[in-house]
Amino acid sequence: MGKIGIFDSGFGGLTVLRAIMDMLPQYSYVYLGDNSRAPYGDRSFDVVHEYTLECTEWLFNHDCDLVILACNTASAKALRQIQQIDLPKRADSKRVLGVIRPTTEQIGHYTKTGHIGVVGTKGTIASNSYGIEIEHYFPDIQIHQEACPIWVHLVENELVGTPGSDYFVQYHLEHLFKANAPIDTLLLACTHYPLLYSSIEKFLPNNVRVISQGPLVAESLKQYLHRHSEFESRLSTKGGIEFYTTDSNEVFDLRGGRFFAEDIASQTIHL
Ligand code: DGL
Repeated sequence: MGKIGIFDSGFGGLTVLRAIMDMLPQYSYVYLGDNSRAPYGDRSFDVVHEYTLECTEWLFNHDCDLVILACNTASAKALRQIQQIDLPKRADSKRVLGVIRPTTEQIGHYTKTGHIGVVGTKGTIASNSYGIEIEHYFPDIQIHQEACPIWVHLVENELVGTPGSDYFVQYHLEHLFKANAPIDTLLLACTHYPLLYSSIEKFLPNNVRVISQGPLVAESLKQYLHRHSEFESRLSTKGGIEFYTTDSNEVFDLRGGRFFAEDIASQTIHL
């Protein structure tokens, strides 16, 4: 029976895994963090595609029938090519889903003013994936995007809450809000950013609601499996989770626990 693979360039996908496992604890999961090559945020389309495909295939070879790219950068830069070109050639019976569509399908329901702020990595923002997808589902909504290249590093290096980290959080939020658009919803379009929540909150104008993707992705997966019952019946319902990283498993266990809100015991793999 198949497992569900959750992939991220590093730790961020653990925030999505947490939400998915809280909602769908019956399935069996495999998490892979490509920590040795993270962050992906500034890398080219070709490189993000190459790394993401490699990790996806590793998860396929470790009993996963479905892989969720729990990374916005990989979803923005690699998902379409994997779904449309690689999968039909290499693994027709497997499925790969991203985090952008589940988010954009829902995000329009959160705003009253019709103005949404989107923060993400350089790669995610430059791809304009959120612009394109939100326009598709909610054509009347205006989005205001801000690339925050350093935020992933603040999280990965455990600097959250320090004055240096707060400086860069404030810097990007001020930039996003400087045009005085009536933004009432801030979408964290990077799976690392929920870890910066306490800092983000400090520098946000009043009445702006912060949305993390985990619960949206979990709900969308639940609905996907409901709609595709034949595929769902191929999945193991024995529960359980295995963690793998391409870098030190000791570091992964130490840092990953904060993202997953639970202790982790991972294994190092070499791709
Ligand atoms: N977690 C990734 C995302 O959601 C960002 C980390 C990276 O740049 O690799 O975009």
